[in-house]
Amino acid sequence: MKILVVDACTSDNSRTRALTKYLLTKLNGDIQTVYLTDNKPGALDEKTLSKRDNAVKDNDFSDKMFDFAKQFKSADTVVFAAPYWDLSFPSVLKQYIEQINVCGLTFEYTQSGMPKSLSSVKRFIYVTTAGGYIVSDELGYGYIKNVMQLFYEVGDSVYIKAEGLDIYGNNVGEILEKAKTDIDNIFTDAYGCFCR
Ligand SMILES: Cc1cc2nc3c(=O)[nH]c(=O)nc-3n(C[C@H](O)[C@H](O)[C@H](O)COP(=O)(O)O)c2cc1C
Repeated sequence: MKILVVDACTSDNSRTRALTKYLLTKLNGDIQTVYLTDNKPGALDEKTLSKRDNAVKDNDFSDKMFDFAKQFKSADTVVFAAPYWDLSFPSVLKQYIEQINVCGLTFEYTQSGMPKSLSSVKRFIYVTTAGGYIVSDELGYGYIKNVMQLFYEVGDSVYIKAEGLDIYGNNVGEILEKAKTDIDNIFTDAYGCFCR
């Protein structure tokens, strides 16, 4: 099983990344991590878009600009590690989505106008930590869930979150331990075996 970790964390001491690392100890497979802050997807400006449109027309995806999309397309499970920023997630993650959604490569449109997946992704896991409380799950996890469902027909998802980490007086260690217990409960069965 190919597991792709899309890491949108910035801080060297990222709690989101630490929680994701814990999660990865529960998953079996080949793990590849893409660090978006080191390996920036970049904005789709006029020049890039027209280059991309031409490549799509020619059905030629050999350019480096399609590396993110090809890597995503061949994964079985995608883990998104995304701190809660400004009610959703860091903008590099949105840029990543713009890079992977390539018509003719990772999805295509059917006659009815609905996207059909050309990728092997079957499941995604979204890990986030928040300084305060997440006001709406729809703006972060929910957005990714919609992208994964509508473009890639991925119905299997897991949402891991730890909230209130920057609130004065909160016990950060305890909150993170609780999130790890959530991970244990989801990914191990009553016999202590990995179950997903
Ligand atoms: C640019 C930025 C925006 C943030 N926006 C929010 C926010 O809207 N709501 C909130 O509760 N916390 C917000 N925070 C706090 C982070 O969610 C919190 O510190 C989180 O645990 C950071 O994850 P990390 O430790 O993986 O970097 C923000 C932090 C930063 C740096």
